[in-house]
Amino acid sequence: MEFREFSRYYKVLVEERLAEALDRDIEPSLKEAMSYSLLAGGKRIRPLLVFATIEALQGDMLLGVRPASALEMIHTYSLIHDDLPSMDNDDYRRGKLTNHKVFGEAAAILAGDALLTLAFTELSEADEISELKRLEIIQNLAFSAGAFGMVGGQQADILGEKKQLTLDELAAIHRRKTGALLCSAVYAGSVIGGANEEETKRLQVFAENIGIAFQICDDILDVIGDTATLGKEAGKDAELSKSTYPSLLTLDGA
Ligand code: IPE
Ligand code: IPE
Ligand code: MG
Ligand code: MG
Ligand code: MG
Repeated sequence: MEFREFSRYYKVLVEERLAEALDRDIEPSLKEAMSYSLLAGGKRIRPLLVFATIEALQGDMLLGVRPASALEMIHTYSLIHDDLPSMDNDDYRRGKLTNHKVFGEAAAILAGDALLTLAFTELSEADEISELKRLEIIQNLAFSAGAFGMVGGQQADILGEKKQLTLDELAAIHRRKTGALLCSAVYAGSVIGGANEEETKRLQVFAENIGIAFQICDDILDVIGDTATLGKEAGKDAELSKSTYPSLLTLDGA
């Protein structure tokens, strides 16, 4: 399958699942705030990495649906919190006003919390995946999303504002705040696709590199992109004196 066709097909599949996962007994205003961000589009790159990995291993693609959906829930929660006034203080995301701009800060914090925990409901209920594989995926995702991974990286990113970091320090932040979740997407695909130890290791190296490259591109786009195309405000990193590859190495270096 061509990439364009692949991405369109699996995006639809995961978006159908995301809508279904929210179709539960949730306090209506909370559900509205959760759906607002979760069903707002986005590139769905983490779900696509789950499916691409399973495909590379010739595994059962349909087993990727709930892990892919769980990853997107965690990613969306991280964006809602990342945009809060106490963090990056952003007004636009995925072409719409940010969650807290529409629903207020308390609802945005809670919608994020609810998406994070819903991801683990989504995975633990995925009984089409064997218990052992499910546990491996859950353990890896919990590790990557939390203090050891994404959340730790977000804290380091905030601490790095207005500081001159070395390239190694910056890469270590990227590895956690962005790379960890991408690694987890590839890991879930590896488990479902039945990768052996060697294949799993090699796929993780691939994912780590994609992770760093992805954040470097995001930082470059913050400099050269326009708000309408990005769906989020450009130029914010400089405004917040963030340490980024462009700020450390200039645009060409980045
Ligand atoms: C934005 O992620 C935050 C970063 C980790 C750079 P994406 O660029 O994947 O955002 P969406 O999901 O497409 O909106
Ligand atoms: C965010 O990085 C990474 C997350 C874990 C959410 P950024 O702060 O650069 O992401 P954008 O530019 O707001 O999407
Ligand atoms: Mg940020
Ligand atoms: Mg941000
Ligand atoms: Mg950014």
